[in-house]
Amino acid sequence: MSKPFDVALGRLTGEDSYSSAPSLFIDGGQERGTFFLETFGCQMNDHDSEKVAGVLLSRGYRQVQTPEAARLILYNTCSIREKAAQKVFSRLGEYRAKQSEGKIIGVLGCVAQQEGEGIFERAPWVSLVCGSASYRKLPELIAQLESGNHRVTGLDTDTDETFETEITRRDNPFRAYLTIIEGCDKACSYCVVPYTRGPERSRASDAILREVRQLAELGYSEVQLLGQTVNSYADPSPRKMRFAELLLAVAEVPGIRRVRFTTSHPSDFTPDIVAAIETHPKVCEHVHLPVQSGSTKVLRAMQRSYTREEYLETIAVIRGAKRPIAITTDIIVGFPGETEADFEETLSLLDEVKYDSLFSFKYSPRPHTPSMKMNDAIPEEERSRRLAILQNKQREIQTARNRKLIGQTFEVLVSGKSRRENQWSGYTSSYRLANFTSHVEQLLGTYVQVRVTGVTPNSLVGEHVV
Ligand code: SAH
Ligand code: SF4
Ligand code: F3S
Repeated sequence: MSKPFDVALGRLTGEDSYSSAPSLFIDGGQERGTFFLETFGCQMNDHDSEKVAGVLLSRGYRQVQTPEAARLILYNTCSIREKAAQKVFSRLGEYRAKQSEGKIIGVLGCVAQQEGEGIFERAPWVSLVCGSASYRKLPELIAQLESGNHRVTGLDTDTDETFETEITRRDNPFRAYLTIIEGCDKACSYCVVPYTRGPERSRASDAILREVRQLAELGYSEVQLLGQTVNSYADPSPRKMRFAELLLAVAEVPGIRRVRFTTSHPSDFTPDIVAAIETHPKVCEHVHLPVQSGSTKVLRAMQRSYTREEYLETIAVIRGAKRPIAITTDIIVGFPGETEADFEETLSLLDEVKYDSLFSFKYSPRPHTPSMKMNDAIPEEERSRRLAILQNKQREIQTARNRKLIGQTFEVLVSGKSRRENQWSGYTSSYRLANFTSHVEQLLGTYVQVRVTGVTPNSLVGEHVV
């Protein structure tokens, strides 16, 4: 295959391709220095993509909105469940023909890390495979492609580095994501993340606070601190800031009005986090605390490192706070060996905790994970049945909980405008979606008071109180 890309680069800049900007000249209607980036998966992946885009933009690339218009097509992928991983391969299949048009196709993220060079076998039209623990190497890998290599990989997870970038091209104009801890050191028996994102690495607190100050200067008032186990944060700097202290320090940055954080692991959820929410109104009154199952027996098989009772003790501390704190969770149904009685325990946990919202999943066996080899798999139809029962129950709980909010007024950060006239949407501090009417002309990005006049299971309906 000819390599007009590299040739063009050398010709344009006269420099070694590593430090050069890509050519922007047109070849068959397609700019050579263009990239398309599609992201699957969690908020951490979304945010990684914002950083990857920043890296490419800082090297002179231009982002385009379709793969057709791009020279470099990148997929940042998720492998948390089988369906997510399948979606990636079907998307790659759609772009099989593109390689012959001289496009470069790269796979990033968790499928890249999990499948490694196997991706080249399954999709030989891919030329770059790089997992998130190796993104610091991305510019170098892209340069290698530019200088003629046909296949490059970044698959090391043996690293103590975090992915720092000079530029982050943020997608969300209202909420700025900030990863404070990468990777995961837990070993939940069903989960690919420890394999796909490498060991836990925390970012120094002063670097985090510096970025928050920059974000405030750019006009962001809401930041969301991210980590697969965000509350396991361990400041590597001599300051040794605790996670709860970091929440307060971020809340103190002038211009910041809301601090969110996700995902919290129950075993590391210390009472000082609740105290931080209680004492500082800018720390949002919402905790996402995945429980996974209400049965201690299943939790043990999942290697979740807490019992139902210990989890409920943590919930009691959160519910006992002086400010009401919304609690949301994740649940897996149909884990191997989950009996009807175990499942009933999950249902009774929903009654006890009364979550404000939850994400629920059918167990999906994942390669390399210990649960893959467990006996007593639950048949697919049974997993579906349990999921439906769980979701129905939660819908009733949520509707009842939301109904109690009718008549109350909440502060909403407005982040959406409906096509319907005078209809806006945004989130409360407790992370409830509010759809509301207002006759004010421009509200996006502002904080408004919304009185709740009605509810659905998943949202509040209200009106702007001027
Ligand atoms: N770090 C977070 C969760 C990350 S993955 C935590 O520890 O809670 C998001 C959710 O996907 C998990 O909470 C879990 O509910 C679900 N999940 C992870 N692996 C899964 C699997 N193999 N099958 C089904 N659901 C899974
Ligand atoms: Fe996966 Fe468990 Fe780590 Fe969450 S804590 S990312 S579920 S291994
Ligand atoms: Fe998916 Fe990886 Fe996130 S597996 S959920 S993209 S950490």
